Amino acid sequence: MDRVYIFDTTLRDGDQTPGVNLKLNEKIEIAKELERMRVDIIEAGFAASSQGEFESVRTIASIIKDSIVATLCRTVQKDIDIGWEAVRVAQNPRIHVFISTSDIHLQTMMKKTRDEVIEITESMVKYAKRYCSDVEFSAQDATRSDWDFLIKVLQVAVKSGATTINIPDTVGYIIPEEYALLIKTILQKVDGKYIVSTHCHDDLGLAVANSLAAVKAGARQVEGCINGIGERAGNTALEEVIMAIKVRKDFFNLYTNIDTTRIYHVSQLVSKYSGIPIQPNKAIVGLNAFRHQSGVHQHGVVSNRMNYEIIDPQDIGLPKGGIIVLNKNSGRHGLKAKLVELGYNLTEEQMNEVFSEFKKEADVKGEIRDDELVKIVERTLQTKKT
Ligand code: KIV
Ligand code: ZN
Repeated sequence: MDRVYIFDTTLRDGDQTPGVNLKLNEKIEIAKELERMRVDIIEAGFAASSQGEFESVRTIASIIKDSIVATLCRTVQKDIDIGWEAVRVAQNPRIHVFISTSDIHLQTMMKKTRDEVIEITESMVKYAKRYCSDVEFSAQDATRSDWDFLIKVLQVAVKSGATTINIPDTVGYIIPEEYALLIKTILQKVDGKYIVSTHCHDDLGLAVANSLAAVKAGARQVEGCINGIGERAGNTALEEVIMAIKVRKDFFNLYTNIDTTRIYHVSQLVSKYSGIPIQPNKAIVGLNAFRHQSGVHQHGVVSNRMNYEIIDPQDIGLPKGGIIVLNKNSGRHGLKAKLVELGYNLTEEQMNEVFSEFKKEADVKGEIRDDELVKIVERTLQTKKT
């Protein structure tokens, strides 16, 4: 089985989320958690973007020992000099350089010709390589670029020393089948020894699907952020990719080195520090991801969780309990399981009384919280005694 490397950019692309501004101590805590989760590469920031950013990249680089620490740099000497100064203290440093390859970026933003992009790629990858053996090259807006030109640029990057070539879907534009074909074409046409990486944005809600399609087509590094935060609609949600590769091992025949039992904790941490709540129906880490409300489903999971779950919640480090959500749709099996969870062991007759009281209240209130259920039980048992 082949390994897929996980590249986390929560501290860089994630920190570019509108409204998010992670502080140094928060970044350090997240970086340590990512290392504990065994993320392969942590992109600690964009060192040349400000003095504060430089210091935080450098601090993280000096603390993290097991993961590779990367910093993003434009393909300009000054960025690469500053970036290297920031990550050189790392046990395993990486310089990550990028340049745009789409015509729209070249003509309206960068004012560069295609030939100039090729020249800059060659000279700046070589420049970064003088400092660091581990150089990643990203072709910004790759998915809206002319494929022949993109392949030329990537070939130059590899020949100049890039060991990872990243194919960003910068504006979240591509469709899974198309992305898979692009990755396959790159692997066929670009000679040399390199890893192909994916970096997807979620503008069409396809970032995870695109990343997985790319992996199936041969990409062996996935970039993304915890909880899918990032510019605009966000990046690939790493926890979703990691769990898809694990749960569907039969399909992918691949693995990651991630300790998935750290996922829940790191997700909570990123939500707390980014100030971005996790939507309840979010895959893997949402509040409802392992909760069941309808009577039929509750009956199913009480008999065997796999009737309606494909992931063992302990696999993502979810604290035990809380799988049953009681409301008017719930049946006896769900109610009984919840009562056992709360420490009650009722007789058949008591159960009938409680069930009927619970249904009356649920019809009015909707969801019945644990503390409300306890009150129903106590009240019912009390009435029976008197
Ligand atoms: O989305 C993007 O293109 C990026 C690159 C700079 C890697 O974040
Ligand atoms: Zn990005």
